[in-house]
Amino acid sequence: MTKYIPEPFRIKVVEPIKRTDRTERGTILKQAGYNIFNIPSEKVYIDLLTDSGTGAMSDNQWAGIQTGDESYAHCRNWYHFEQAVQSITGMKYVIPTHQGRVAENILFSTILKKGMIVPNNNHFDTTRANILANGGVPLDLVIDDGKDPEKYHPFKGNMDIDKLEAVLREHGPGNIPVVFITITNNSGGGQPVSMENIRRVREVCDRFGVPLFFDACRFAENAYFIKQREDGYSSNSIPEIVREMFSYVDGCTMSAKKDAIVNIGGFMAFNDIRLLAPVKEKLIQIEGFPSYGGLAGRDLEAIARGLVEVQDEDYLAYRVGQVRYLGDLLEEGGVPILKPTGGHAVYINALKFLPHISRDQFPGQSLVVNLYLEAGIRTVEVGSFMFAQKDPITSEIKYPDLDLVRLALPRRVYTGGHLEYVADSVIRLYKNRDGLRGMRILDHHDSPLRHFFAQLSFL
Ligand code: F0G
Repeated sequence: MTKYIPEPFRIKVVEPIKRTDRTERGTILKQAGYNIFNIPSEKVYIDLLTDSGTGAMSDNQWAGIQTGDESYAHCRNWYHFEQAVQSITGMKYVIPTHQGRVAENILFSTILKKGMIVPNNNHFDTTRANILANGGVPLDLVIDDGKDPEKYHPFKGNMDIDKLEAVLREHGPGNIPVVFITITNNSGGGQPVSMENIRRVREVCDRFGVPLFFDACRFAENAYFIKQREDGYSSNSIPEIVREMFSYVDGCTMSAKKDAIVNIGGFMAFNDIRLLAPVKEKLIQIEGFPSYGGLAGRDLEAIARGLVEVQDEDYLAYRVGQVRYLGDLLEEGGVPILKPTGGHAVYINALKFLPHISRDQFPGQSLVVNLYLEAGIRTVEVGSFMFAQKDPITSEIKYPDLDLVRLALPRRVYTGGHLEYVADSVIRLYKNRDGLRGMRILDHHDSPLRHFFAQLSFL
């Protein structure tokens, strides 16, 4: 069994959390319409809903908060932020936003025309929604191994190069304004993309004259996997690997709530000056002046410092080690998980966990609800509830490749003891799995974002 890699920090401030009782959780679930997004966080014991904006900032970041310069234009923290983003991405133009999805909105509303296609390994749900809202067509081209929860592949987030080439040949650069790679591939299990794959995608994009962007939310975790798993990188430093990764792309969108270890923030960065004026105009319209973009000066400072801290190798070894540790505990208990474990989360294979519940009865959501009921742990379904969509013409339901439940680990928040409690609880539920029932959706059936607000009931 993997040993737990001790935290490369000690705890200076604590936030109490409370265990609730099962009867109370039953009432809360009913009131929440069996949608865990509706549960008050104070009624959650261990919150693994997301790793986004839930990390613990360091003393250095909190000290940076005190140096916030809240001038409207060109505050001093903007220069630190701009420099930090430029030094990581090598990009000339940096656009701050208050979340990653705003960067997506600004980019796609600027470059997309109706019917245009945007390939990705796997689009995250907000990216998909922003492309659709701007008349575009999101296309997922992850390698086949990336869709097989059991198969070991060191870089399951890789893009299928042949499929990408075929799509580019068929639709041409005129109809494909940008190709994206999501690092790590969140919707596919937090799986990394290899440097070789990034390089090859770049070559294909060059051949067809199409720009390449990263969805860079978890760039440091991706770099750590490259160092661990890819030939030729074991003696490179993380910042060197990060710089090489970004050297192959023309731009990126980023949610700083992940690998900048802050509670709010995001940005876009790129080299093409033609994008600058329309992007800035849109930014001013919906976020703010280009030196703050919806953030306070203090937030810009925390991001600038977080972007440096996240590239520390001891931190990344502990971080990725925590995810692996939880995965190993679950596997030892017989729980079917997506393998290998990714960078920010363990994903349970709900179809295998609950084979008696069919996909139209949302086995993943049943698992999520029951895990909260039994143990006060909040997780999220990434499967039929989130993604299954009715075809508008044939009315046929299209299901995603996998039905998963994500246990996302906030950065620097939970200890090994917490993870053992989570593993014990999931294993206990697994032993009693035969009694779990399927669910049905009561409203918002056809919304692509229904998982955030739809109400459900048990069958
Ligand atoms: N891209 C990816 C790959 C993401 O994982 C997320 C957010 C976004 C874009 C959007 O960023 O939240 O700052 O607007 N993912 C969170 C999650 C919400 O739980 O995985 P945002």
